[in-house]
Amino acid sequence: MKIIILGAPGAGKGTQADLINKLLAIEHISTGEIVRKELLKQNESINKINDYIKNGLLLPDDIILNLIGNYLKNKKNFLLDGFPRTLDQAIFLLKANVNINCIININTEENIIIKRLKYRLINTNKNYNILFKKPKIKNNDDKTGEKLKKRSDDVLLPIQKRLNMYIKNNTVILDFYKKNNIPILNINGNETIKTISYKINLFIKNHEKNF
Ligand code: AP5
Ligand code: MG
Repeated sequence: MKIIILGAPGAGKGTQADLINKLLAIEHISTGEIVRKELLKQNESINKINDYIKNGLLLPDDIILNLIGNYLKNKKNFLLDGFPRTLDQAIFLLKANVNINCIININTEENIIIKRLKYRLINTNKNYNILFKKPKIKNNDDKTGEKLKKRSDDVLLPIQKRLNMYIKNNTVILDFYKKNNIPILNINGNETIKTISYKINLFIKNHEKNF
């Protein structure tokens, strides 16, 4: 099963993808996380990548495709979060014969997004929220005890740039998949984590037999 999860920054893509991963054991591939892990390595490209991320800009296709292109081609099941971000990236998947079964498109209001991102905390691969998804112990990861931190791009100006980029590209990407007859679940991202997760699971279960 190959699923794409679309939505604005802070819409809840990562949160929902983690829940689907737990329930249905489909690998969650987040391009944002892949990029952030790359930043932990000591190599020449990290300054360049860091500049794009902290300024809320998309990485150029040569960098992002180099990081994830081959990785995706060999996967049978995945839940793709953060890719495609542009029409060119959607065309890349098509040309690479990565056949997508369905799209989950989370629509969340801008004022809610800004509040969520302002209060988000992360560790290497998990995210929390001071208001909506608190860690058991303040500023500590529930499992590892690792100190939680803010993402460098969770600041107002980069958030605004990420939102603008999303607004510019998401309709074009959705139109592309509509034309290719891929089933799309449009979901209200303003609701609770639990309600959204319930609706997504129902959609996947209903469509599973067709995949
Ligand atoms: P990426 O990491 O993908 O960032 P993003 O798209 O901006 O999305 P976020 O991760 O911020 O939001 P999310 O929807 O996952 O929300 P979350 O579940 O965390 O990409 C980062 C950067 O990498 C890009 O800007 C770019 O530079 C680069 N990049 C990545 N992919 C690329 C590509 N394909 N091409 C080029 N460059 C690329 O939720 C947010 C917060 O809200 C959390 O605290 C959560 O706990 C909380 N929350 C979630 N849902 C709810 C809810 N329903 N109610 C209450 N709180 C909630
Ligand atoms: Mg995310």
